[in-house]
Amino acid sequence: MHNISSYEETIENFTWKSVEEELGYKPGDTINIGEYCTDRICRLGMGKRKALIWQDHSGNVKTWTFDQMRVDTNSIAWYLENMGIKPGDRVCLFMDKVPELYLGFLGILKMGAIVQPLFSAFGTESLETRLEDAKTTAIITQKKHLPKIRNILKDTEYLKFIIIVDQKDELHLKDREHILDIENLPKLDHFHTYKSTAETPSVLHYTSGTTGKPKGAQHVHYSVISQYITTKYSLDLKEDDIYWCTADPGWVTGTSYGIIGPWANGITQCVLDSGFTAEGWYSFIEKHKITVWYTAPTAIRALMKEGEEVIKKHDLSSLRFLASIGEPLNAEAVLWSDKVFGMKFHDTYWQTETGSMVISNYPCMKVKPGSMGKPFPGMEVGLVDINTHEYFDKKGVVGIIAIKPGWPAMFRTYRNKKEMYDQKFVNGWYLCGDRASIDEDGYFWFVGRDDDVINTAGHLVGPFEIESALLEHPAVAESAAIGKPDHINMEVVKAFIALKPGHEQSKMLELEIMNFIRKKLSPLAMPQEIEFVKSLPKTRSGKIMRRVLKAKEWGEEIGDISTLENNM
Ligand code: WT7
Repeated sequence: MHNISSYEETIENFTWKSVEEELGYKPGDTINIGEYCTDRICRLGMGKRKALIWQDHSGNVKTWTFDQMRVDTNSIAWYLENMGIKPGDRVCLFMDKVPELYLGFLGILKMGAIVQPLFSAFGTESLETRLEDAKTTAIITQKKHLPKIRNILKDTEYLKFIIIVDQKDELHLKDREHILDIENLPKLDHFHTYKSTAETPSVLHYTSGTTGKPKGAQHVHYSVISQYITTKYSLDLKEDDIYWCTADPGWVTGTSYGIIGPWANGITQCVLDSGFTAEGWYSFIEKHKITVWYTAPTAIRALMKEGEEVIKKHDLSSLRFLASIGEPLNAEAVLWSDKVFGMKFHDTYWQTETGSMVISNYPCMKVKPGSMGKPFPGMEVGLVDINTHEYFDKKGVVGIIAIKPGWPAMFRTYRNKKEMYDQKFVNGWYLCGDRASIDEDGYFWFVGRDDDVINTAGHLVGPFEIESALLEHPAVAESAAIGKPDHINMEVVKAFIALKPGHEQSKMLELEIMNFIRKKLSPLAMPQEIEFVKSLPKTRSGKIMRRVLKAKEWGEEIGDISTLENNM
C-alpha cells in the first residue's frame, strides 16, 4: 500500500488545511522546524526510533535516535544562544556531511537564527561572496576548512564567530575561533525553542547558479508543511523505511528532503560522508538495507557508466522505491533502472525557490519514462506562453512552467534582490524559467531551461531531447547540447559527449553516433557537430552547465562559475 493510492482522488480532496491539521498546526501557532523534526516526533512516541544512521569513508557508523537528536539539538541551540547569537542572525554551516551538520541545522533553527548551508568544497571566493551577501554572524565548520575562512577574515568584520566542531584543545585557536564539541556539551533535556511563526525566516539557500550570480533564496518555517506532505506522498516514506537522500545539504535537496521532510515524518535516514564510487554506494545500500533512495540524474548516469557487474555483487533487495531530482531524467536512465534494479526511477521536478516538489511521478501512478510526472496536489501548476506569459491550456504546446503562488514552501524573497524576486511573478503566476509541454494525460515533459533552449532558424529546440537520444547510444556516458553561432541559422546544434570506459573517440564513432540519433530526432534537432570531451562542466549539485560550454563557443565571458565542480 502506498501513502496515496489514487492521484486523482488525492487531487480532489487535498487541502493545505488538512495537512496543517495532520501536523496539529493552527494559523498563528508557533511553528519551528527544529521542534517539528525532534520534540514533536518524541511526543508522538517515536523517540526511540533511529533518526540518523551516519557512516564515514572508512565505514565507521554512528547513530542517533530521535530522542538523542532532540537533546543534542537543544544543546547546540543553547550553546549558540549563550555565545550571543540572536534570532534572525545568519549562521552558516560549512562542513562535510558530518553529524554536526545535521544536528547543527536543527539546533540553529531551534534558537531562531537563519541557517545558511554552503558546500564545504567551495573555495575562498565562493564562500566570501555568500557570507558577504548574507552578512553572516557565525560559521560552523571543521578544522580542515579553516584555512579558507582565515583567508577572508580581514574583509568580514560582521563574521563574529568561527565555530569548530572537531577541535579538542583551545591552544591553537585564533581570532574569533571557538570550539563546539557535542560530546562534551551539557545534555539539555529542555530548551526554550524560539517561538517562530509561519513567516519567520528559516533557511537561506544560495542557488547553484547555472546562470547569473548566486542569489540567496529565503525560506520560512511554514515550509515544513509542504516538505512534510511531499515527502509522504511523493517519496512514499513510511515508518519502517530506511531512507537515503544522496544530496549534500549545501543545496536545497539535502535540506528539504535530506533533513526536514523525512524527519518531520519521523523516518530513519542514512548519510554517507564519503565520495562517490559505484561500489561504495551499492555496499551502503546493502549494509543499511535502504528501502527508499532519492538521488540525481548525474549520479544515475555515473552508475550506468559503471555497468551491471558491480550491481550483481550486492544484495539490493531491500530497495522498494527510487526517485530522482535536479536535472532532466532521461528515459534511458529510467529503463536502465527498471532492468537492473527491477524498478524505475521516479522523476521529481522542483527548484531552490519552490522549496518543495512541484511535479512528481507518484508511486501509485504509471511512469512514462522521460516525463517529470504531474503537479503536486494543492498546487496549481500550468504553462504560460513563452512571449506573452499568458496562461494557456493546450496539449503538446511548449510553454514556461508556472505555479500559482501560495504553496507553503515557496521562497519569500531573494536576499538583497527584491526586484529580482518580484520579476519572477507575472500575471499572477510564479515563473519557473523552464520550458515544458503537457500531454493528453496531464504529464509534464521537460524541454529545457529558458536560457538553454536552442534557436535554430527560428525554431526552438530543447537540449533535453537531443541529449536523451545521444544517451541511448551504448558508447555515450554523458552529453550536453548547445546552440553554436551560425550566420545563416542564427544557431546550430552542437553536442558535447563524454564516452563510457572502453570507448575511444574517432571519426568513425562520431559518424556512427550521428546515424544512430538521426532516426530519433527531427532534422532541426540534429547536431551539426560533435565534440568529444573527458567530462562536462557541472555544478556541485551535479547540474550540467551548458552556459559554460556555450560561452566558450560564442567567445563570450563565462560569467560566474563559483559553483563549478572543478573550480576550486
Ligand atoms: C532547476 C532548479 C530542487 C532541487 C533541484 C536543484 C532543473 C530540476 C528537474 C527535472 C528537468 C529539472 C530545472 C530547475 N531541474 N529538476 N526533474 N527535470 N529539470 O535546484 O539548483 O534550484 O535548480 O533544475 O531547470 O529550474 P536548483
